Amino acid sequence: MSSTTSHSDNITMAGGGLYSLATIGAKHVIDAATPMVTGAIDAMDLGALDRFTVSDMGCADGGTSLEMVRTAIGKVRGRTQIPINVVYADQTGNDYNALCQTVYGHTPFTTWLGEHSDTFPFMSGTSFYNQVVADGALNLGFSATAMHWLSEKPCDISDHVQAVGAKGAEREAFVRQGAKDWETILLLRARELAPGGRLVLMNFGVDEEGRYLGNTDGINMFDRFNENWQQFLSDGVITEQEYKGMTLPQYYNSVEEFSAPFKDPSSPVSKAGLRLEHVETRVVRCPFAEDFKSHGDSAKFASEYIPTIRSWNQSIFAGALASSRPEQERAELIENYYGTYESQVRENPQGHAMDYVHCYMVIQKTA
Ligand SMILES: C[S@@+](CC[C@H](N)C(=O)[O-])C[C@H]1O[C@@H](n2cnc3c(N)ncnc32)[C@H](O)[C@@H]1O
Repeated sequence: MSSTTSHSDNITMAGGGLYSLATIGAKHVIDAATPMVTGAIDAMDLGALDRFTVSDMGCADGGTSLEMVRTAIGKVRGRTQIPINVVYADQTGNDYNALCQTVYGHTPFTTWLGEHSDTFPFMSGTSFYNQVVADGALNLGFSATAMHWLSEKPCDISDHVQAVGAKGAEREAFVRQGAKDWETILLLRARELAPGGRLVLMNFGVDEEGRYLGNTDGINMFDRFNENWQQFLSDGVITEQEYKGMTLPQYYNSVEEFSAPFKDPSSPVSKAGLRLEHVETRVVRCPFAEDFKSHGDSAKFASEYIPTIRSWNQSIFAGALASSRPEQERAELIENYYGTYESQVRENPQGHAMDYVHCYMVIQKTA
């Protein structure tokens, strides 16, 4: 293993509201899970509560979850008139201006704010690796497509960019980090949740057939990231250190790994009162690859497909480049990287798709 690196500040989604515009697939994932949110609220006893608090952890610019929040608020309001707090939480580097614009209705998206009385948005820069709200203050904890980001990168991967391609000791280091971080996330939520509260989580994962994001039935997206980055290394465009530095601090748990803390009654998670009520995997097809099937225009497909990828990983590629390089040179190199990828998709579009593979979970905090 080449080096140990602390958690990257480079994990930022595209700002200025671009994230939600480029990432309609992530909204599809949340929309598909909204019945789980309403089911979780239905299962709660709201009678004794003096307020209801929902969190959206890893909310980015808030656009993809607006409809889900609207539905959740409507569901609670249909049963009780207590105040409803909505806590949007992400990392400090998130674009909170874009988040405020979304929630306060200054974008093309239709906000939920103002539709019901006594509903209050809050924006928090607290990571889900820390406690976001006070002990017992949370009724519904929600998170979509965010908890695959690790609290730290356990090592650089010597010949790939993501743990899905890691081998041997490097892979083991990611497996261990994934388990440790999952337990940390759950124990913090166990503190936050009120008895009877629920977590509804949609996390990227590896499904029962070994599928994961961008690796369903066509070209493996992560292998392609890696091949193109390796080509930059072979061509002398980047250095060995820059190649290795592009290790995504992510881990995709399998269903078994997600479920493990709940299966052992003596685990800290079980002892903290968390119970797994529901777990399933789903594949949500890449909307751009699906559209391509009907319009058949490979240039249009490539021009839509690459931005959705850039929206979540450009900051990591850029962060791997030596800070000694002039900023302009770094920007050009990154343009070149995605330009190469875009021309590959344009010239040979078959098999490219960023299909989403998620593990959907509903977790209850018992009394
Ligand atoms: C792919 S986006 C998902 C956004 C939105 N939840 C959705 O489903 O469309 C991942 C988000 O997770 C956030 N994130 C990553 N690590 C985080 C952490 N430790 N705590 C809170 N948010 C985090 C990123 O900043 C980013 O906004």
